[in-house]
Amino acid sequence: MIDVGLKNIKKAYGAFEILTDVSFDIKTGDKIGLIGRNGSGKTTLLKIILDQIEADAGEAVIGSSVKTAYLDQNIQFDDMENNVLNTYKEFCKVYEGEARNALANFLFTRDEVFKKVKELSGGEKTRLKLALLMQTDTNLLILDEPTNHLDIDSKEMLEEALNSFKGTILFVSHDRYFINQISNRIVELSEDGANSYEGDYDYYKECVAKKQSSTFATAQIKEKKVKPVVKKRASNKFKLEQTEKEIEEIEEKINSLNKNIEDSPDEYEMVAENYQKIKNLEARLEELYEIMVEI
Ligand SMILES: Nc1ncnc2c1ncn2[C@@H]1O[C@H](COP(=O)(O)OP(=O)(O)OP(=O)(O)O)[C@@H](O)[C@H]1O
Ligand SMILES: [Mg+2]
Repeated sequence: MIDVGLKNIKKAYGAFEILTDVSFDIKTGDKIGLIGRNGSGKTTLLKIILDQIEADAGEAVIGSSVKTAYLDQNIQFDDMENNVLNTYKEFCKVYEGEARNALANFLFTRDEVFKKVKELSGGEKTRLKLALLMQTDTNLLILDEPTNHLDIDSKEMLEEALNSFKGTILFVSHDRYFINQISNRIVELSEDGANSYEGDYDYYKECVAKKQSSTFATAQIKEKKVKPVVKKRASNKFKLEQTEKEIEEIEEKINSLNKNIEDSPDEYEMVAENYQKIKNLEARLEELYEIMVEI
């Protein structure tokens, strides 16, 4: 069954074409990691699927039985003064006991459930939002960079929650380790559209390497490889935490440099300097992501 059919989607902002002829189907049960460089249009594509943005051309058809839930890159709640427990109870229409049990699965225990939503950290907001989204009758979860603010325990919790989710998942992430844990399919956005790979991130890398060397025909690549990484993670927790910390710091730096550029796009010298810094930081990120996969 097809949950979402995308056909020749195009989207431009001004003269700048973001999405060019994006076509692929999302099948029921797919766990798709949507990847692509910064600004390649990943968030835009998610919003087209969610009907929050209109495409310039092409078709996005959503199956009639599909119920989507969306984790935005910027997480908001209707009432920021409400506490965690009441937010959950009101949204899911359940009693306190059930709410506390469910919240505990998302690592809110004891007094933490009485924290006001506005006082939650980025990671806590993500956890609460996921708790709400996953209790509804959603069968298509759409997540935009869900691990961005998460510490290592929250990331493990999220991995478990997503791996036990029976529906379809479409998620954007730059965290290759996380992508490997969740996805059974990778869709890469590039200048000429969307390329689909039927495997996890390792499989995608293999395909790209083979394509680049052009020694092997892509058709020869068949078997999906999934490494037993979960066990390794525990034994290398320290190294992982260090690497994740550095990744987080770099991502924060990149975000703040990007913000400077957005705030003052006319200050050409500053923009050029910041772009260079971002490029260097992204090169380091690449290395760190490789390390994450290796650990
Ligand atoms: N409303 C808008 N008006 C003009 N340009 C926009 C608008 N929304 C997004 N863009 C630009 O379109 C491009 C694609 O944006 P989008 O947010 O979809 O990329 P992305 O792949 O999600 O990036 P990231 O990895 O940084 O989240 C970016 O260059 C962005 O600046
Ligand atoms: Mg985005």
